[in-house]
This record gives sequence, structure tokens and C-alpha cells, in this order.
Amino acid sequence: PFVIAEACIDVTDKSCMEECPVDCIYEGVRKLYINPFECIDCGACEPACPVEAITEDRNVEEGSEVFVDDNAAFFTSV
Ligand code: SF4
Ligand code: F3S
Repeated sequence: PFVIAEACIDVTDKSCMEECPVDCIYEGVRKLYINPFECIDCGACEPACPVEAITEDRNVEEGSEVFVDDNAAFFTSV
């Protein structure tokens, strides 16, 4: 699945939400999260983000691996 990392924090542009065909991008308090169980890997959200916060989980930048778990945890911790 695709993942939203640190660059989204306090930016929350939300262009990504409009592009997602399965509406699997959800709003948190300071950033948005992609539900890895619903994401169909279409890639439509990636170019929509003005701050390039979105990447495929296996391509996340060094140091941003925590956001892969963070995106999943957002949907399992409730
Ligand atoms: Fe939605 Fe596609 Fe982005 Fe997954 S890759 S979050 S399905 S737009
Ligand atoms: Fe965040 Fe970029 Fe979407 S800033 S809300 S991931 S368009």
C-alpha cells in the first residue's frame, strides 16, 4: 500500500483524498492516513500531494519507516 509520511503533518492539503478511487485516505488530528487494508495500490494519490508526503510503503525514505506502522496502527488501534 501507499503511505503518508511526515511531510503531511500540519499541511493536510487533502488533494490526495479527492484522487483516491476507493476513499481509503482518512483524516487524523495533524495528518492524514492511508488505510493499508483498503488501498488498492493505484498510485493516484502520490502525484496529487504538493509536499510529496505520499510514497509506496517499500519506497519510504530512510527514517520514515515508522510511518508505515503508524498508518496501519491508525486503523487497528481502535
Ligand atoms: Fe487511494 Fe490509490 Fe492512493 Fe491507495 S494508492 S491511497 S487506493 S489513491
Ligand atoms: Fe497530506 Fe499531501 Fe494529502 S499534505 S493531506 S498527503 S495531499
